[in-house]
Amino acid sequence: MIVLGVETSCDDTAAAVLADGKLASSVVSSQDEVHGPYGGIVPELASRQHVANIMAVVQAALERAGMRVGEVEGIAVTRGPGLIGSLLVGLCAAKGIALTNRIPFVGVNHLEGHLLAIFLEHPVEFPYLALLVSGGHTSLYLAERVGCYRRIGATRDDAAGEAFDKAAKMLGLGFPGGRIIDQLAKRGDSSAIRFPRALVRGGSDFSFSGLKTALREHLRREHGLGFDATAAVASRAHLPEEALTAVAASFQEAVVDMLVEPTVAAAAALGVTRVVVSGGVSANSRLRLRMVEEGKRRGLEVHFPSPRFCTDNAAMIAYAGAQRLERSERDDLSLNAAASLPL
Ligand code: KG4
Ligand code: ZN
Repeated sequence: MIVLGVETSCDDTAAAVLADGKLASSVVSSQDEVHGPYGGIVPELASRQHVANIMAVVQAALERAGMRVGEVEGIAVTRGPGLIGSLLVGLCAAKGIALTNRIPFVGVNHLEGHLLAIFLEHPVEFPYLALLVSGGHTSLYLAERVGCYRRIGATRDDAAGEAFDKAAKMLGLGFPGGRIIDQLAKRGDSSAIRFPRALVRGGSDFSFSGLKTALREHLRREHGLGFDATAAVASRAHLPEEALTAVAASFQEAVVDMLVEPTVAAAAALGVTRVVVSGGVSANSRLRLRMVEEGKRRGLEVHFPSPRFCTDNAAMIAYAGAQRLERSERDDLSLNAAASLPL
């Protein structure tokens, strides 16, 4: 079955074509340059960019796959969770294409896309413990089969990606910050600063707001950097290279500890032997290394999608949607977008 995937839940405009379970094309148009100057995503600007780009991105995905729209047999589109204005652009575009070309369509939960992204590259046996770490979510799910996911734990406050982005903003590094901190941390001493590790409720929940405060306090105390209520006033130039890389590496190490510990503890408590890590933060090189090391020590099989399938993309949406389209499931054209959509 040939499935067109469409994803516009946040700040990436993406489309992909999946042909009989194999990826034929995946196009992602990033809006980083649009939101970068603001140090975070501006929802109204995100919607406008999606409107401007969506049809060109869909067209590019079809062209790269060597297909015409008439050959598409199903459309899968993210319907939530995400920014409502952004979601509506992808959903309306997908409905329009479905209606004019009489193609069946299904709405997909963005989180299910992340949880199944690994299957774009290789199969994993169920059940597995899924650690979903992105800019908006940090949760543990027990994936029992396609469509059946039990939530085991979640963040009490910030998501891990959000913590990276806020730290980068305080350090004047630009947006999104995760990848930049990842790069800087490679040159830094991760034991230079001992940031606090919050472990909550029997170990299955996460919390990152204390770490953010600890970083702010560290920068104020050790480097005299002040922050007003609305904007970070730090700039990269204020911190010598060695201090900057040490802060990045130490901060990253704390985040990684706070992700790895609850994950391996939950796997042991549930008696599962497979762990799949997904979402934008799963592109983090230190998290990948540490999770694999810890997995080896504890007899766990650990899987990560390639970085391009960790961050938002439409290939994972096409894959998740294909699971339902292939069983002849369809959604009605009255389907609405949902900013908060549980899995
Ligand atoms: O999954 P994603 O693309 O979008 C959401 O659904 O949120 O995740 C984006 C998040 C951002 O917070 C970004 O800083 C983070 O993933 N991220 C990283 C890395 N690459 C992206 N965080 C840490 N290390 C990375 N290499
Ligand atoms: Zn995502």
